Amino acid sequence: MPHSPRLDTPAFLTLRALLFMPGDDRRKIDKAATLNADAVILDLEDGVALNRKAAARETIAAALHEVDFGRALRIVRINAVSTPFWHDDLAALHTAPPDAIMLPKTESAAQLHAVAQAIADLPLLAIIESGAGVLALNEIATADARLAALVFGAEDYAGDIGATRTPGGEEVLYARSAVVLYAKARRLAAIDTPFVDLHDVDGLRADTERAHRLGYTGKLAIHPRQIEPIQQVFTPTAKEISAALRLIESHEQHQRAGSGVFAFEGKMVDMPIVRAAEAIIARARAAGIEL
Ligand code: COA
Ligand code: MG
Repeated sequence: MPHSPRLDTPAFLTLRALLFMPGDDRRKIDKAATLNADAVILDLEDGVALNRKAAARETIAAALHEVDFGRALRIVRINAVSTPFWHDDLAALHTAPPDAIMLPKTESAAQLHAVAQAIADLPLLAIIESGAGVLALNEIATADARLAALVFGAEDYAGDIGATRTPGGEEVLYARSAVVLYAKARRLAAIDTPFVDLHDVDGLRADTERAHRLGYTGKLAIHPRQIEPIQQVFTPTAKEISAALRLIESHEQHQRAGSGVFAFEGKMVDMPIVRAAEAIIARARAAGIEL
């Protein structure tokens, strides 16, 4: 498969913890700017009451003008294309464009095209959070060159198909795996669903590790205390980095000596294992670690 430049777009590859906040809550928006999140997501959708949509549009536009979010990418989640709100959401952003737009409840390529046509140039992130969205993954993932990431929304998805949420998440495993599969096959970033128990940090860590093992590159956060645990899971440890560097060096020596497969610290190494080590190094670089 040709190597698409999109996954190399550092802005999206490096998003580990993306912090949501209601777009009508300026206090939380101001606070979010101080928290070292990799991205802030100013919400106009379900985090905002129906009678507060207009106020949230104004608050977000003002904050995008006034607040210095530092290195955090500024994302606005608009309302779904199936609602009457999304046109006004985008219109409010024309004078204060964020860095990207997040589209909830994405169920077709046509919905992505509609948003892409209504606002120029901005990268798009599509949330997959319904049965129809999972079934349309192939057309969504290939819909538009501005699509930068697929995001999985487990709560809406479980509600849509009538599943009951469990700590292990087996009821969403098919969809959660499908989202990461279609994202990675198209060289898009894959962002996992938020963990809704605000006080269970061990549970958050376990759930983030599960996402990381599935291939996700980042996870949504809904409270400041979730940022650091998420970032830790998606950042390789010093031990992992040094093992990966040693393995890559050994691989290069063996290649020069003419052997493609060799034993390293008791385990067989061939190309997939070398690529996994290279991926660890890429993630370390993406996390800003000096090598
Ligand atoms: N972003 C920025 N700041 C946040 C925040 C967030 N998502 N969640 C909480 N904070 C701030 C609070 O404002 C408070 O700051 P303060 O002490 O300066 O006032 C501090 O962190 C502690 O908050 P806490 O009292 O523990 O939480 P809460 O009870 O006020 O709020 C929620 C709980 C769930 C309402 C809140 O975390 C939230 O709004 N999360 C995002 C929800 C969202 O956007 N959902 C839509 C997408 S799923
Ligand atoms: Mg939702």
